[in-house]
Amino acid sequence: MKILETRNLSKFFDGLKALNGVNIEVDKRTLTLIIGPNGSGKSTFINTICGFYKPDGGKVYFEGKDVTGLPPNKIYEHGIVRTFQTPQPLKKLTVLENLLVAERHVGENVLNALRYGKWLGQEEELVEKAFRILEFLKIDHLWDRESYKLSGGQLKLVEVGRALMTNPKLIVMDEPIAGVAPALAHDIFRTFIDLTNKEITFLIVEHRLDIVMSYVDYVYVMANGRVISQGKPEEVMNDPKVVEVYMGGG
Ligand SMILES: Nc1ncnc2c1ncn2[C@@H]1O[C@H](COP(=O)(O)OP(=O)(O)OP(=O)(O)O)[C@@H](O)[C@H]1O
Ligand SMILES: [Mg+2]
Repeated sequence: MKILETRNLSKFFDGLKALNGVNIEVDKRTLTLIIGPNGSGKSTFINTICGFYKPDGGKVYFEGKDVTGLPPNKIYEHGIVRTFQTPQPLKKLTVLENLLVAERHVGENVLNALRYGKWLGQEEELVEKAFRILEFLKIDHLWDRESYKLSGGQLKLVEVGRALMTNPKLIVMDEPIAGVAPALAHDIFRTFIDLTNKEITFLIVEHRLDIVMSYVDYVYVMANGRVISQGKPEEVMNDPKVVEVYMGGG
C-alpha cells in the first residue's frame, strides 16, 4: 500500500531544472532511500514534498489526497514530518525538553515554542510519552543532559525523538547519518527498521551507501533532476546506469 506518490514533480530555479518530472512512490511501513550524486535534486525533492518549495509542475499525493503545494504546517498536519538539525537555542535544552517542545511545534516554528516557554507546565502524560520514546531510542539515560553535550549520533536520535512526539506517519530525513560513527549509524538504521514495524514509514536521502543499503526496502537513484534507476538495493547497485552517474559525477 503506497502512502506517498509524486507524479511528474518539477521544480525550477532560474531555468535550472532541479526536479524534472520526478515520479516516486513510497509504500507504507517501508524505508525508501533516495541516492544520487551531489546536485542531483535529492534535497529539492524532499523540500518540495514537505512544502518548503512550491513545485512548478506535477502532483504530490499523500494517503491518496492531493497535497501539492501546501505550506509546511499543512503538510505536517497530514502526518509528514521532516527532521531538522537541532538549532543552536535548542541545544541548551535537555534531551527531555527537546522532545517536549517538539510535541506541538515541529510543523511550526520550534523556536517560538522555546521563546514563549510553552514546554513548561506540560501535562504528566506528555512527559511519559517523551520517556517512552527516549526508552525506545535507547537514550532515556541521557534525559537530563544538555543537548550540546551529546555526540553527533545521539543528537540525530533526539531529532528522531522530536519527530516521533508528533505521531508522524511519514518521517523524511536528509542525510541522517552524515558524520555519525559507523556503529551508531547502524544502530540508528536498526531503530528505523523497528519503527517501520510500528506503522512508521521512512523516506531518506543518504550518501553512505555502505551502511544503509542492507536496511532499505527500495531505492530511487536521481541524476540531473530525474529518476534514472529504481528497485531493490541489489538491483540498483548492479544497474550500469547507476555506476555510470557515480563514476561520471552526475
Ligand atoms: N534554493 C535554491 N536556489 C537555487 N538553486 C538551488 C536551490 N536549491 C538547490 N538548487 C540547485 O538545484 C540543484 C539540486 O540541488 P539539491 O540540493 O537538490 O541536490 P542534492 O541532490 O541534494 O545534492 P547533495 O547530495 O550535494 O546534497 C543543484 O544544482 C542546486 O545548486
Ligand atoms: Mg542535498
